[in-house]
Amino acid sequence: MNVIMGLKEQIDLLKLPEHIAIIMDGNGRWAKEKGKLRIFGHHNGVLSVRDVVEGATLLNLKYLTLYTFSSENWNRPKLEVMAIMELMVSTIHKEIKNFMEKNVRLMAIGDLNMLPEKAHRELNNAIEKTSGNTGLVLTLALSYSSRREIVSAAKSIAAKVQSGELAIEDIDEDTFENNLYTKGMPNPELLIRTSGEHRISNYLLWQIAYAELYFTSKLWPDFRKEDLYEAILDYQKRERRFGMTSEQVN
Ligand code: IPE
Ligand code: IPE
Ligand code: MG
Repeated sequence: MNVIMGLKEQIDLLKLPEHIAIIMDGNGRWAKEKGKLRIFGHHNGVLSVRDVVEGATLLNLKYLTLYTFSSENWNRPKLEVMAIMELMVSTIHKEIKNFMEKNVRLMAIGDLNMLPEKAHRELNNAIEKTSGNTGLVLTLALSYSSRREIVSAAKSIAAKVQSGELAIEDIDEDTFENNLYTKGMPNPELLIRTSGEHRISNYLLWQIAYAELYFTSKLWPDFRKEDLYEAILDYQKRERRFGMTSEQVN
């Protein structure tokens, strides 16, 4: 490989994943390392989000889904939760202009009704304002729990069966996909988690059935578009076999 070539230039655009999902982890530890409060890490994590979104748009990536706040994160100290919600409101407000310039469409998945009213309003406003954009679809997983998403899909399907709209024999994987929050989106081919933790933490369990997993020890506030490019290059070196043999897929 030409070492003078930048990471971005090494990426094979014909083999780009359509959808990348990221578990942005390590903000608290990053701040602690610097002797600061956890919220300082969250603030710096926003800079990483901005840079990674820019990297994604430069590649013309179609879908980027960011784990921003889990249902389990509501159990954190109240002060941290409040600070994260406020940060979210101010960030989304500030970023709308940038999303419009970059043709980014904002979406959100999760139990959004749990969000404080102001955060919910700001989010809906940004989703609506960017709804006509045709570039990157940037989805924030907020107050998100994959198990809840699956339970809620099961409930909607059951309701359709009960009302006679759907026959049990007709329930298949597509039925399920169409009742998830991610309806209409392709499944992520690549899942990235920062901060050295090797777990999924209740994220997109159904959708990542065949995703390639990429773990980096970098803490989220240190993650930049170059790191995204590195993850994509790693992904492009892998052989995705989907249960078949190497000979079959080649
Ligand atoms: C990720 O960083 C951000 C959220 C979960 C909101 P953390 O806050 O989990 O940081 P660590 O894992 O404690 O370092
Ligand atoms: C997962 O990170 C959730 C987000 C990145 C928003 P956590 O830090 O909450 O995950 P655990 O608790 O370490 O598994
Ligand atoms: Mg964490």
